[in-house]
Amino acid sequence: MTDNTQRVAIVTGGARGIGAATAQRLAADGLAVAVLDLDEAACEGAVAAVEAAGGRALAVGADVADAEQVAAAVERVASGLGAPTVLVNNAGVTRDNLLFKMSEGDWDTVMGVHLRGSFLMAKAVQKHMVDAGWGRIVNLSSTSALGNRGQANYSTAKAGLQGFTKTLAIELGKFGVTANCIAPGFIVSDMTRATAERIGQDWDTYVAARAAQIPVARAGEVADIAHAVSFFVSEGAGFVSGQVLYVAGGPRA
Ligand SMILES: NC(=O)c1ccc[n+]([C@@H]2O[C@H](COP(=O)([O-])OP(=O)(O)OC[C@H]3O[C@@H](n4cnc5c(N)ncnc54)[C@H](O)[C@@H]3O)[C@@H](O)[C@H]2O)c1
Repeated sequence: MTDNTQRVAIVTGGARGIGAATAQRLAADGLAVAVLDLDEAACEGAVAAVEAAGGRALAVGADVADAEQVAAAVERVASGLGAPTVLVNNAGVTRDNLLFKMSEGDWDTVMGVHLRGSFLMAKAVQKHMVDAGWGRIVNLSSTSALGNRGQANYSTAKAGLQGFTKTLAIELGKFGVTANCIAPGFIVSDMTRATAERIGQDWDTYVAARAAQIPVARAGEVADIAHAVSFFVSEGAGFVSGQVLYVAGGPRA
């Protein structure tokens, strides 16, 4: 069994929100963490938070949908922190619209970040996991995978990630690598703030309305998701693979 302090994680979309909270949580668990996001400078806050708590982190700028940038980023992590054996595919975007108004560009952007991005990242990182005979992949799905008005692109991508995860679990299991999915419900973040703005709703009213639909009667926090990631990454979760965990304050949404 390897001590967590020798392990290196990559968290995509780590500059803010769920990704930044996950980076902090994994660092608190003892891992060194690469905070990867589109703009390297935007990662500095998340890196500083990890370092202030005594952890080790590296800011890496890359677009997960770009194969060359992904390859370069993973190499940089390997030389800067050590071979990455934990990957959290968290980078995400929304381009919501009803089907008849959804542009091809908005479809392609969402598929590119979530599906192509997770594919490229997993492909680049798996060789380090296979070499180590140990690895953890956690993909961020969503309750939107079950269907959500105005999100034909996003719900398709998030459902696709569940199939991707199950296949990685089957292919990589014999190398000591697990792959699991977390499907968050409503989580307070810049992404959900942008949704409230787009539909013209006051934030507090929007949160209260969403919370009223949630069995535990509150909105989710980024730490709720980071906690679930920490479980899947933990040594003891080595027999849990190919699963989808809905973290939504209730059974599904
Ligand atoms: N907030 C929610 O309620 C919620 C619910 C279900 C699922 N999720 C999923 O959780 C993940 C994180 O969501 P969040 O709420 O923290 O969102 P967020 O918008 O606050 O953060 C997403 C991050 O991803 C980065 N990113 C976007 N495109 C990228 C790219 N091509 N390459 C690298 N980085 C990129 C952004 O710059 C940003 O820092 C997403 O995959 C999202 O779909 C969120």
